Amino acid sequence: MGPIGVFDSGYGGLTILDGIRQLMPQMDYVYLGDNARTPYGTRSFDIVYEFTLQAVKKLFEMGCPLVILGCNTASAKALRTIQQTYLPDNAPDRRVLGVIRPTAEVVGQLSNTMHIGVLATEGTIRSESYKLEIEKLYPGSTIVGQACPMWVPLVENNEFDKPGADYFVNDSLNKLLAKDPKIDTIILGCTHYPLLLDKIKKYCPSGITLVPQGKYIAKSLEDYFVRHPEMEARISKNGTCQYFTTESSTKFAESASIFLREQVMAERITL
Ligand code: DGL
Repeated sequence: MGPIGVFDSGYGGLTILDGIRQLMPQMDYVYLGDNARTPYGTRSFDIVYEFTLQAVKKLFEMGCPLVILGCNTASAKALRTIQQTYLPDNAPDRRVLGVIRPTAEVVGQLSNTMHIGVLATEGTIRSESYKLEIEKLYPGSTIVGQACPMWVPLVENNEFDKPGADYFVNDSLNKLLAKDPKIDTIILGCTHYPLLLDKIKKYCPSGITLVPQGKYIAKSLEDYFVRHPEMEARISKNGTCQYFTTESSTKFAESASIFLREQVMAERITL
């Protein structure tokens, strides 16, 4: 038995961890942020795969039977190859899940027009993962994406609630909506974006449903455990959560405390 591993390139996956822990507080968790090498959003496919695989291996070494890639960029660029190429030969009894498919699944229940907007990192938008996933699930839907290159730096630098963030939030939203005025649902396809939610709401026209991911990923994981009781049985349940980072543990603890609204202690590791 072991904890659920949650991985992100930095702090963003904490919004996913938060959602999952609220729904399943009895489980044990290990969070790993590759803060030393964040952001992943502008990196190539090969590099995101290499870094993500290193993190997954580390979480397996720590005893996690199940790892969630709580990062859209890693889910878009590394998940499929890890599932199809790495796991069968190297860790057939472990599982790695991502955040794109569960998010794509919910939009069908939220949108009336089936014109869906996706705000995400450049890497996620370029991968077209959301477009492909949603079109597969809901043929005939229209998916329009907009990369928001400034949003992750605003969050990572603790500027997300400052006046300077308004310009970039408004700008990216306008660019998205100009591409398709029929959009009625917008996926916040990057785990950092829930921290900008107040500003996004401020500039988003009324009538548009915003989809931050945390609670949907949590619900989807709960459903996964119902379908896979053998995996649920392998998750230890003492209600603990440990935090690891590839950057300074003090720096991580300070910022993570903002994301989670509680004090956390972190340990630095190398991948
Ligand atoms: N957390 C990542 C995501 O969800 C974005 C941050 C990064 O670019 O590394 O896509």
